[in-house]
Amino acid sequence: MSTVTITVNGKIVRAQTGEYLLGVLRREKIDIPALCHHEAVEPYGGCRLCTVEVTKAEWKGWSDHVVSCLYPVADGLIVQTHSAKVIELRRTLLDLYLARHPQTKLIQDMAADYGVTQTSYQTVPEPNNCILCGICVRICDRMGFSAISAVNRGHGREIAPPLNEAPPDCVGCLACALNCPTGYIKYEDAGFKRTIWKREFEILRDAKTGAPTITKEFSEYLVKNRAIPQEYFKFNDESHRKDTAVNMGKIVQWNREVSS
Ligand code: FES
Repeated sequence: MSTVTITVNGKIVRAQTGEYLLGVLRREKIDIPALCHHEAVEPYGGCRLCTVEVTKAEWKGWSDHVVSCLYPVADGLIVQTHSAKVIELRRTLLDLYLARHPQTKLIQDMAADYGVTQTSYQTVPEPNNCILCGICVRICDRMGFSAISAVNRGHGREIAPPLNEAPPDCVGCLACALNCPTGYIKYEDAGFKRTIWKREFEILRDAKTGAPTITKEFSEYLVKNRAIPQEYFKFNDESHRKDTAVNMGKIVQWNREVSS
């Protein structure tokens, strides 16, 4: 890895080779809209909102518009994040998003930031909050389950388990639902039962407090594939934290005793 120098909106910025532009821009606290970006998963350039204008001195006046989440930094790159053309492009995209998701707060807010409060396109007849950012699918893949995917085309495109039935590979970890930027993916925890994607899971109980921990299927997966001892799942995170605090206290006390 080596350091490269780029110019962002007239300011010299250093970055590392291998970094994507969006990460560098965010580190510089530049507000770049993005719907499909999530730091835990690989970018895929779906929403196009993070588009910026790039050029180089040797390009002799030629410039390009690129999705910054997928564009690797390179020495000498000159970036404009809010040129008139970039803003117009984002406005058009947000106008289209608003036509497809007129009731989605996230889209309304992002569009309003770009001065778009009403779509100029025909709205879809039955809008929902799934913005097809694909974060849920990529996170599920990254977790190692691949229980859901994007299916169908055009207006019928949606995220769903295979054959729209309870997905056999889901373990009820909630990574999809908790990372969905619009809260579209619904789940229900009732007592020690969790329901998500039409599938029901048993939630384990903390052996000390009786509080819920994780689903039985998720614990089995972690024991088998991540070599985490089964014993670990007898307690939830809070109990583990308390145990750690008690043990740390004992170590501090022991240190005091031996040094006095
Ligand atoms: S964040 Fe969606 S295309 Fe870059």
